[in-house]
Amino acid sequence: MKINNICCIGAGYVGGPTMAVIAKKNPNIKVTIVDINELRIAAWNDNDLSKLPIYEPGLAEIVKDTRNKNLFFSTEINKAIQESEMIFISVNTPTKTYGKGKGMAADLKYVELCARNIAEIATTNKIVVEKSTLPVRTAGAIKSILHNTGNDVNFDILSNPEFLAEGTAIEDLLNPDRVLIGGDSEKAINCLAGIYSSWVPQNKILKTNVWSSELSKLTANAFLAQRISSINAMSELCELTGANIEEVSKAIGMDSRIGAKFLKSSVGFGGSCFQKDILNLVYIARSYNLNEVADYWEQVIIMNNHQKRRFSDRLIKTLYNTVSGKKIGMLGWAFKKDTNDTRESAAIYVADHLLNEQAMISVYDPKVSCSKMQSDLNYLGNRTEEENHKGLTTCVDSPYEALNDAHAVAIMTEWDEFKSYDWKKIYKNMKKPAFIFDGRNLLDKSEMNKIGFEYYSIGK
Ligand code: NAD
Ligand code: UGA
Repeated sequence: MKINNICCIGAGYVGGPTMAVIAKKNPNIKVTIVDINELRIAAWNDNDLSKLPIYEPGLAEIVKDTRNKNLFFSTEINKAIQESEMIFISVNTPTKTYGKGKGMAADLKYVELCARNIAEIATTNKIVVEKSTLPVRTAGAIKSILHNTGNDVNFDILSNPEFLAEGTAIEDLLNPDRVLIGGDSEKAINCLAGIYSSWVPQNKILKTNVWSSELSKLTANAFLAQRISSINAMSELCELTGANIEEVSKAIGMDSRIGAKFLKSSVGFGGSCFQKDILNLVYIARSYNLNEVADYWEQVIIMNNHQKRRFSDRLIKTLYNTVSGKKIGMLGWAFKKDTNDTRESAAIYVADHLLNEQAMISVYDPKVSCSKMQSDLNYLGNRTEEENHKGLTTCVDSPYEALNDAHAVAIMTEWDEFKSYDWKKIYKNMKKPAFIFDGRNLLDKSEMNKIGFEYYSIGK
């Protein structure tokens, strides 16, 4: 099958950047990204590239080069399905918030809706590609929905999980460690491999059975998150023994069997996927009665929750056991630098805990709006909107304003710009003693001490 038209359902953090790069590298293929969210599509089509719905370094340039040439953003889902030979499903698969598996299983309703939509509309053969992260054996359900339409259309189902990380998505897509394609039709696999081979070397395109591909994605995220929880577990021990977590990370990371990446101790991992995917893995393991397997992976989440809680507990304890009525200036709200994504960000949970203790919080993040911060807190449902509004008073545009008169600074995201602030000026305008709680080990302790700060970091 020759692929002239690709459709991607879901214009989010994965669909947008992934399809932009596919379009850039395959100028002869028309790529249409569709979404039910009209506002999101309008933002993708905005002439002002700073208004794209997703902030990713390098993304705006690629969108500028390809948009309305061979890359299109649209809400006309049926039309795009109809005219495409290959359809990517890249919709969200959040943790279920209701019914069986609540709080653990992945909610597959959006994926199923896509499959039903494709089944209803398609009149010609299609290759359907699972790009969303899905529980192992989901392709079976998609196949069943697609093949029970009775309209004689042939559907090949492939699993092609995405491994990009936010903040480095474009770089990850342009130079992937591997591209994974799982399926049982060699022809369909080769069609998809052909699209990637426009820029990815053959030896990096890995072909497996569909179940291995689905499970590899959950496994990869579980392993990555496990490294962070492992190093964070050691950070607590470092704080009590005089060892330094950065020295420990370096020492173990130089062992080529361990490797240096993902050993950065922090206030806890965030993001839309690590927690969701591990909870899903735990749920799957329990559903097969593999309780030891489930308990093993669940510990990664337990450790991460502990790390977030430990950070705010330490802050409260150090501020003489009370933050009631005290201003705490937070730097960063995104779950990591170079993204405007805040899903599951540690900052939300730390802020929530401090608000429970009646702190007054003031946040600055270079890419996150005040309304997003408010809605993240409201979503937790622990306080009324009014109470959140009162507690999170000034999510201001200027970092200096956010930290004025604060009793403490909490660094939640490792944005580079935080390092180059005028910390002497910040110190001057803070209440004394002035504390810094550096959840990212971003600043230099001796420099901060020299200025006069009482400086606390992770694992030191
Ligand atoms: P997202 O929430 O940013 O985007 C999903 C989009 O799908 C939304 O815009 C939503 O409106 C749209 N949508 C939902 N149902 C739809 C339907 N029936 N028809 C049309 N559009 C629909 O999500 P995301 O971060 O892009 O993640 C998508 C998937 O990719 C998830 O399964 C996630 O686990 C996986 N993933 C995410 C990342 C990441 O870095 N965010 C990386 C790898 C894999
Ligand atoms: C992660 C994976 O890295 C991607 O491969 C995967 O595709 C993606 O999840 C997904 O499935 O969604 P992402 O969550 O975007 O990517 O970002 P990461 O760089 O993995 O960071 C996740 C969290 O861990 C962040 O809060 C980050 O600050 C934290 N982290 C990361 C640490 O605390 N220490 C580290 O050493 C690395």
